[in-house]
Amino acid sequence: MKWFKLVSILGVLPVCLIMVSCQHDPFIGPNMLPDPPVSGMCDPDSVYFQNQILPILVSNCTESGCHNLQDRKEGVVLDSYQNLLATVEDATNNDFEKNKLIRAILDSDPDDRMPPAPNAALSTAQIDLIKRWVSQGALNNACDENFGGCDPTDAKYSSLIQPLIQAKCLGCHSGNNPQGGVKLSNYTEIKAYALNGKLYSSITRSSSWMPLGGAKLDECSLQRIQAWIQLGAPEN
Ligand code: HEC
Repeated sequence: MKWFKLVSILGVLPVCLIMVSCQHDPFIGPNMLPDPPVSGMCDPDSVYFQNQILPILVSNCTESGCHNLQDRKEGVVLDSYQNLLATVEDATNNDFEKNKLIRAILDSDPDDRMPPAPNAALSTAQIDLIKRWVSQGALNNACDENFGGCDPTDAKYSSLIQPLIQAKCLGCHSGNNPQGGVKLSNYTEIKAYALNGKLYSSITRSSSWMPLGGAKLDECSLQRIQAWIQLGAPEN
């Protein structure tokens, strides 16, 4: 029965090798670490990639034809921390002269600047935030904006809706050529989409939700937005 043992060992060997080689996929490097869990209180002195930087990149850089996974303009993809590091040279370099991300958003030629004309440049506040994030180590960090519990009734236009839309939607939904023909640049425009039901349905779709290409809004934000809409979308 020796031949039987030999055959079974030889038969099992390749399967073992395949399993071992799958466990050590050579293409998964340190850049491919998973995103951190959203936990812990937000420290106002820290800048958080997942909460503050990624939404700026998604809203201003990943629209159709630009730096999303499908179009990969100039090979650059800005839809995640991992892809930012893999496709933008020196994106974490604290020397801003070398950092290609900082250089692109500051370029004085409007055609080379990102986002390029006719899009508006990032605001000074957004640029400062990105610089501070790099200075603090360009970490893939996240914090829980609803730490300590969710109060769905705490939903005002001025403190919730306007800042959220500015951070996560305006890059695609403003200017002369807004995505999907949808403009959300002022209260009147936002109110119209709030009251026709499309604002809420767009952020709660099961696929291609808004912000397009970004993380789904957290459950608490969804509840607060819904509460504000149910009040008649007041300018409070
Ligand atoms: C990367 C670009 C991008 C970002 C960021 C983005 N959108 Fe959109 N949005 C689109 C595109 C493209 C369409 C049209 C296609 C579609 O409906 O999916 C659209 C359509 C919409 C519509 C119309 C949906 C309908 O039913 O007709 C609404 C409302 C909307 N977006 C709201 C938002 C809100 C709110 C945010 C932020 C939370 C946001 N979008 C962020 C690209 C974007």
